[in-house]
Amino acid sequence: TTKPYTEKYRPQFHFSPDSAWMNDPNGMVYYEGEYHLFYQYYPDSTVWGPMHWGHAISTDLVHWQHMPIALYPDSLGYIFSGSAVVDWNNTSGFGSAENPPLIAIFTYHNPEIAKAGGVDVESQAIAYSLDKGRSWTKYEGNPVIPNDGNRDFRDPNVIWNEEIQKWNLVLSAHDHVQIYTSDDLKNWKHESDFGIDAGTHDGVWECPDLFPLQVEGTDETKWVLIVNINPGGPNGGSGTQYFLGDFDGHEFSADSKDTNWVDWGRDNYAGVTWSDVPKEDGRRIFLGWMSNWAYAQLVPTEKWRSAMTLPRTLSLIKKKEQYVLKSSPVKEAELITANSATVNSDEALKISGVKELDIEGLTLNQSRLSLEFEMGETLPESFGILLENELGENVTLSYSASAEQFQFDRTQSGDMSFSDQFSGISVAPYKIGSTVKLEIFVDAASAEIFVDGGDLVMTEIFFNSQPFSKLKVFAEGQSLTLVNAKCTGINSIW
Ligand code: FRU
Repeated sequence: TTKPYTEKYRPQFHFSPDSAWMNDPNGMVYYEGEYHLFYQYYPDSTVWGPMHWGHAISTDLVHWQHMPIALYPDSLGYIFSGSAVVDWNNTSGFGSAENPPLIAIFTYHNPEIAKAGGVDVESQAIAYSLDKGRSWTKYEGNPVIPNDGNRDFRDPNVIWNEEIQKWNLVLSAHDHVQIYTSDDLKNWKHESDFGIDAGTHDGVWECPDLFPLQVEGTDETKWVLIVNINPGGPNGGSGTQYFLGDFDGHEFSADSKDTNWVDWGRDNYAGVTWSDVPKEDGRRIFLGWMSNWAYAQLVPTEKWRSAMTLPRTLSLIKKKEQYVLKSSPVKEAELITANSATVNSDEALKISGVKELDIEGLTLNQSRLSLEFEMGETLPESFGILLENELGENVTLSYSASAEQFQFDRTQSGDMSFSDQFSGISVAPYKIGSTVKLEIFVDAASAEIFVDGGDLVMTEIFFNSQPFSKLKVFAEGQSLTLVNAKCTGINSIW
C-alpha cells in the first residue's frame, strides 16, 4: 500500500495494518527506546485465519512503523495471543547479561486437533529475540505449558514479580484464569486459579493481564486483573472486565467479585498493557483492538480490517470510597494534535435546545474535541453532542439525567447493513457532578470518548458514508452552559 492512506474509513491517527486482517494487540514491550506492538494477523485475507504475529514499532506511542511479520504458524499450530518481556537477568539463558533477550510468550492453537474434536488444542510456548525484536527464534522445548484439559487455554501474560523474585504468568482457561510462577520462563508451576465464582460468565474468558498500580496520591498499591470476555460485554459482544485486589505472587484475592468494565463502548477488545516501561516513566499503558467479534469480520472496509485504540494511561483513583480504574489518552497524543483550534471559547455559551457550533476550518472527521459543561440548578433531562454529515447520518453522545447514564447512539450512523448486530445504543451508568468534561477523539470511523478525564470511557466505531462536518450541542428540559470548548485537528501519522 502507498501512504498516505486514502481508503474510505481508513483511520489517520490510529494504528491499522497496511493490509489484511488484524485482531488482538500482542507482546507489547518497551526496550531500548522502542515500543513494540505485535498483533494477531492473517496476511492472506481480510477475515480471521491462521494467526501470525504482525509487528510495528514506535518511539513515541503515536507514530508507528510497520515491520515484517515476527512469528509464523508452524507444525505446532497458529500463533495466538500473548505477551513479551525483557529478560534483564537472562534467566532463560537465551542471551547474556550484556544483551538480554526479549522473550515472547504466546499460545499455540493446533487446528488439526481442533478439527478432530480433540481437547488439547492450545498450549503455551516461547520465542526469543537477540536483535531488539527484529528476528525471533522459537524455543526447541516448546510447549512450555502443555494443555491441561481445558479446550480454551490461552493468552499468557507475563511479568517479573519483584517481591517474590520470580516470573508470574496469567492465562485464561475458559471460565477462569490460572496463575503460574517460573524462575527461567521455561519451567512453569501452576499456583492458583481465579474467577469461577467471580465476574461475568456470558462468554469465554480471554486475554488476561495482571499488574500492580499505585493509587493516585497515596502509597497504596493495588493489583489490577484485566480479563477480556467474549461475548458478555457491557453492551453486547466483546468486552474488557477488570478486578482490583491483592496478589502475593501466588494467589490473587479480589476486593470484590463484581465485574467492572475498562470501557463501556462496544469497540475496545482484547486490551492489555505494555511491559517494561521504564520505572522513571512509571506508566501502565493500555492498548485495545477497536472492534467487536460480533461483527469484526463484516465491517465494510476493503484491503484491511480494523484498527487499535489510542494507547491509554491507566491510573487508579479513590472516588467516594470506591477504587476506579481510569484510562486517559497518552500524553504523546499532543504530538499529533494540530495547533489550530477552531472553537476556542472561554466565553460561556448557554445551550438550550440544539445549537450548531461554528467549526469552520476543522476537519471534524479527524479531530479532538474538548468540551466542558456546567449544569444549572437543575439537570437537563438530557444533554450531549452530535456529529452529523450532509446526508443527515449522525452519531450522538448524550447523558440522561433520569437514567443516570451516558448513551452512544449509532442507529443512524451510516452503513449498518453488514450485520444486524451493529446498530444500536450503548449505555454506560455514570453519576455526573456539577460540571462534566468530555474529550473525544474522532478518526474517520471511530470515536474514543473520555468523560471527566477518563473516569468513564466509551469506544465506538461507525461507517458514515460521508465525513461528518457538523458539530451540534444540545440540552433538553433545562439549559446548561458550555463553559469551554476547544476543537482541534489531528495530524495523520502516516
Ligand atoms: C481474542 C482471541 C484470543 C486468541 C486470539 C485468536 O480476541 O480470541 O483469545 O488468542 O483472539 O486470534
